[in-house]
Amino acid sequence: MNIAIESDEPSDVNGGRAALPDAKFLTAAVQSSTKRVEELLAAGAELQDTPSSATAFSALINKVTALTIPRWHFSMLNDAERCDAFALALEKNVRPGMHVLDIGSGTGLLAMMAVRAGAAAVTTCEADPLLAEITRRIVAEQGMSETITVVPKPSFLLRPGVDLARPADLVVTEIVDCGLVGEGLLPAMRHARAELLAPEGRLVPGSARLRGALIESKPISDLNRVGRASGFDVSLFNVAATVGHFPVRTATWPHRMLGGVAVLAEFDFARDPLEDGARRVLLPVAADGTAHAVLVWWEMDLGGGVVLRNSPDNTGSHWMQGFVSFRDPMPVRAGETLSVVLRWEGTKLYAEHDPPPPEVSK
Ligand SMILES: C[S@@+](CC[C@H](N)C(=O)[O-])C[C@H]1O[C@@H](n2cnc3c(N)ncnc32)[C@H](O)[C@@H]1O
Repeated sequence: MNIAIESDEPSDVNGGRAALPDAKFLTAAVQSSTKRVEELLAAGAELQDTPSSATAFSALINKVTALTIPRWHFSMLNDAERCDAFALALEKNVRPGMHVLDIGSGTGLLAMMAVRAGAAAVTTCEADPLLAEITRRIVAEQGMSETITVVPKPSFLLRPGVDLARPADLVVTEIVDCGLVGEGLLPAMRHARAELLAPEGRLVPGSARLRGALIESKPISDLNRVGRASGFDVSLFNVAATVGHFPVRTATWPHRMLGGVAVLAEFDFARDPLEDGARRVLLPVAADGTAHAVLVWWEMDLGGGVVLRNSPDNTGSHWMQGFVSFRDPMPVRAGETLSVVLRWEGTKLYAEHDPPPPEVSK
């Protein structure tokens, strides 16, 4: 059952004291990031004034990529299960003569797979201009520049008839994080199917299902919240905590699953609204303990019988699981059923007790 979202307010930072809505905080946060950009600009200007050397350019580009390109691109590209699944799905779904749109080039991997699977033309778009340039060069090296067009734009800015010659027969994308929604999959799919996909066109993936269970793990919870350190209250630091779900390789941390696995949400990318939403779920409790979070993972249907999942037992996947903290840890008893509201809002997942537990004075 999907339910209405009751509040537009983003959830509070996980636990601890709430972040103070203070202009000084904001100014300091902006200063931290602009300082880095200013340093890079200064280094770039210096390079242009002095005789350029390949080593100096590489060093500067490396500084930029460290800031702008997430490190997980490497583990993602080396995740053979993921790559094989997309390659197989494209082989099963691409028909000769098709025009394929790949959203989120990265290195152009899925675009090149689509050509190998028989696509006549592929358009691949990438929001990050540096990654788009890397893709353009990799595609050229593979001798595929005639077939693959690289567009350095987010998919939302693609104009049919301009950026892609005609609507795509198939849209493929892998903008998927540990909690499914964290890279903007839902709005990108919603936009693509309305504006960029031909009637009767296919989406890969076609659907996905979020699963989850209650988890007890103070060590994992402590990765993203703090109270006292060496006797001092440093909880104000929670202003820097990740809001919403965050990735965790569950198997590497002490933890206890407190109950059975439930389906939290299901998305049919061709038909569902793919808007922000929420669902009330009943989570069975099998053991006494303290529920810190709902641990989430997904199953993604790529079509043709190909399914990918980042469940906790899939320890070889580069995708971790999503840890969706409760605002406050919650004592639970074996045999009860906990009613929890899971919300997906923008690129975040939130979990709330339903009804909320009584306020505890701190
Ligand atoms: C998870 S990576 C996947 C890269 C590549 N498709 C692959 O499978 O190896 C997602 C990439 O999509 C880009 N991206 C995310 N959302 C996008 C959007 N709406 N339009 C274009 N690029 C997007 C990101 O910058 C990132 O490079």
